[in-house]
Amino acid sequence: MRTTVGIIGAGPAGLLLARLLHNAGIDSVVLESRDRAYVERRQRAGILEQGTADVLRAAGAGERMDREGLRHDGIELRFDRTRHRVDFPGLTGGRSVMVYAQTEVCKDLIALQLREGGPLLFEAEALAVEDAGTDTPRVRFRHEGREDVLECSYVVGCDGFWGVARKAIPAGLTQVFERTYPFGWLGILADVPPSHDELVYARHDRGFALLSMRSPAVSRLYLQVPEGTDPGAWADEEIWDELERRFETADDWYLQRGPITQKSVTPMRSFVHEPMRHGRLFLAGDAAHIVPPTGAKGLNLAAGDVVTFARALVHRQETGSPELLDAYSQTCLRRVWQAERFSYDMTTLLHRAPGATPFEDRLQLARLERIASSRAAETDLAEAYTGFPFG
Ligand code: APR
Ligand code: PHB
Repeated sequence: MRTTVGIIGAGPAGLLLARLLHNAGIDSVVLESRDRAYVERRQRAGILEQGTADVLRAAGAGERMDREGLRHDGIELRFDRTRHRVDFPGLTGGRSVMVYAQTEVCKDLIALQLREGGPLLFEAEALAVEDAGTDTPRVRFRHEGREDVLECSYVVGCDGFWGVARKAIPAGLTQVFERTYPFGWLGILADVPPSHDELVYARHDRGFALLSMRSPAVSRLYLQVPEGTDPGAWADEEIWDELERRFETADDWYLQRGPITQKSVTPMRSFVHEPMRHGRLFLAGDAAHIVPPTGAKGLNLAAGDVVTFARALVHRQETGSPELLDAYSQTCLRRVWQAERFSYDMTTLLHRAPGATPFEDRLQLARLERIASSRAAETDLAEAYTGFPFG
């Protein structure tokens, strides 16, 4: 098998890249180790920056998003039983975000790819990327019980944190930056209308809580829990009791309960692999970087990477100049580190680390008060949340 761009992984990064290349008349093959049902069911985050939503629209993949997605013009910060709304358009010159689940983005892109695009192989596991430093990189993979080779002009590793692409970059050339957090998120889906019409980020002495949603009828809620918590250890009523405590306000707001349909625990880490390119191998999305979910940046970073790659390859084909491809890693990393900074800030602003001192608790509250009382501080949050420019 031969293609111009071999794409490993059919998460949002790989799928959006295949679509962008298809629209530019560049052929690709996508290899995905899991089956279609698994990819379409996996629960992930659900906030699209305005730039990400615009890219999906321009790629012809925004129709259902525009019909079913929910435009959000702000979030609420909750601390010390008080509520503070951050007004995105008012602070950023009109920007907002879109609540539309990552699984839905993936479903839309898969349907388009199967209907109009190049090959998308499920249950096709990449085993290794070979000759990444040459003009003829190859992906060795296993599909339907047979080993095969995909010969490419370029390989893009969109295979997530646990993928194989990153391993093809010689360790001597790379630097890894990492931080783990001593807590995770217990996430639930519940068949109950969200108790607030915007997302609520709550800081509480018992730990962080987040109210989000998937639709006007389905709530998505999270609780900070100790690292390694077994989701089965939490009974449904215990989860609601704890959410209620952490969201408590001094006014008459209350949390509506409903049947919990799914429960899982997500670990939290910050991770950056530099560089994001070696020869003709490019890394995109979680394969190159992870952010803790507090700022909802994971999917948006993945989109930024593949937009940058697609533009650079089109530039190369139109002008013969490799300059944008050569700058890929640097271009992406500037945006990646801004998202790392923001995600870290949001995480440390809102979570209670085990063993946190009273001094640290007061500092968190002072940081929150600062956002609530200074337009400059609030604008900083709103700009980062609604997203930095692409490319
Ligand atoms: N061969 C083929 N496919 C692979 C391999 C492999 N060896 N290893 C992993 N994959 C597939 C996974 O099954 C998954 O479908 O690569 C895909 C990676 O997708 P994601 O983990 O979703 O990563 P990415 O596309 O970069 O999306 C960015 O945004 O919300 C965040 O972390 C969240 O996944 C999200 C991310
Ligand atoms: C989600 O809806 O899953 C979600 C929303 C906001 C975040 C993280 C996750 O910051």
